[in-house]
Amino acid sequence: MDRQTELELIEEILSLRKKNAFFLDKSVSRNHVVFYTDPDRFQREQTAVLKSHPRPLAHVSELAEAGAFLSRSLAGLPILLTRGKDGTAHAFLNVCRHRGTRLVNEKEGCRHRFSCPYHAWTYSSAGDLIAAPHFADGFEGIQKSELGLKRLNCEERFGFIWVTATDRDTLDLDTFFGDLGDELAVLNLENMVIAGQDETVRHANWKLLVEGGIEAYHFKAAHSRTIGPHFEDNLSTYRAFGPHLRSVLARTSLASLSQSPSESWRLRDHAQILYTLFPTTSLLVQQDHIAWIQQDPVGVDQTRLRLVTLAPKEASDQEAHWARNHAITKTTLEEDFDIGESIQASFAAAANETLLFGRFEGALDKFNQAVEGCLNRYYMKPGATK
Ligand code: FES
Ligand SMILES: [Fe+2]
Repeated sequence: MDRQTELELIEEILSLRKKNAFFLDKSVSRNHVVFYTDPDRFQREQTAVLKSHPRPLAHVSELAEAGAFLSRSLAGLPILLTRGKDGTAHAFLNVCRHRGTRLVNEKEGCRHRFSCPYHAWTYSSAGDLIAAPHFADGFEGIQKSELGLKRLNCEERFGFIWVTATDRDTLDLDTFFGDLGDELAVLNLENMVIAGQDETVRHANWKLLVEGGIEAYHFKAAHSRTIGPHFEDNLSTYRAFGPHLRSVLARTSLASLSQSPSESWRLRDHAQILYTLFPTTSLLVQQDHIAWIQQDPVGVDQTRLRLVTLAPKEASDQEAHWARNHAITKTTLEEDFDIGESIQASFAAAANETLLFGRFEGALDKFNQAVEGCLNRYYMKPGATK
C-alpha cells in the first residue's frame, strides 16, 4: 500500500482506540443457514463463483524452471500446470483427449513430454499432441492439431499463477483487482519463497472458513491461548475493493505509535493486514513474511485448505525462524477452522435460520453480498446452466 494509506490506517485505528470505539457498519446483517448447507446452492456457487474467477493455483517458485509441471485441482477439475520451453506458464485440463484418462498422476516434476498411461498419446509442455501410436491408420480424417490439451485461462501476476476454471467470460486480472492491484504488487510476492506449508481437509462450508478470518471480534475468546493476548479487543477496520477486502487487525503494540513520530510508523509491525481476495484466497501480511491461505471447496460442507508461509528469498536460510512462524500461523488457523467445523456441525440442530453479523462484523456481509452478486449476475443471463 502507499505511504499515505498506511499512515491514514494507523491514524484511523489510533483514533478509534482513543475514543474507545469500534469500526461500525450501518446496521446488523444476517445470512441464511441454508446458504451453507444446500448442495444445489453449492453447485451454483461452484459455477458462478468458484469456476468463474481467477484463483492462484501455485506460487511462481513452484513452477520456476522451463519444463516444471504441477498437477492440481480447481473447482473439481484436474489441472495440469506447465512451464513451456519459452518460459510461458500454461494451465490445461489434466485429461487425455483420446478417451479421457488422467494424463499426469505425479504431483510435480520437470519434463516437456507427457505420455498418457493408456495408449501413449504424448503431449508437449505447450499442450500440443505431438505423438500418438498408429494415428494415421486408426484416426483417419482427424488432425492431431485438433487434439491439444484443453487450455484454461492462465496468467502470472503478484507472484502467483492464476487460473480460471472456465473459458466462459474470463476476467483479466487488471479488471478483477482494479485499485487493489497496485497494493498487491508492492508486496513483492514474486521474490518470496515457500518456507513452510500444510494441507488439510475441513468439514465446513468454504464461506464459513473465509468469514472466520475477517473480523477481530473473536480474537480475545477464540485465540485466548495463542495470539489473542497480542491483539486489541475487537479493534479493526476494513475496506472493500470490488469483491475483495483489506482488513487491518490491530496488535496491542500499535498504541505505542501515538508516542512516536509518524515518519517511523510501519503498519505491518503493529497489525495484521489481511487481503481477502475473492473468492477463496487470503494473504495475511505479517511483520516479515506473508501467510497464503488457499481454499479449494470440494463440497457444500467440505473444503480443502492449503496454508503456505512465504518468506523473502534473501532470508530463506532462517529455517528455524520460519518453522516457528509457520507453526504459530497453523495453530492459530486451526482454532478458526475448528470453529468453522463446529458451526457447520451445529446447523443440523436448526437452532438458527440465519447467522447474525454485528455492526463490527460488516466485512462478512460484504463478502456474502459479493457471492450473491455473482450468483445473480450469472443466473440472470439467458442460457445459464447450473
Ligand atoms: S486415453 Fe490417453 S492415449 Fe488413450
Ligand atoms: Fe481467527
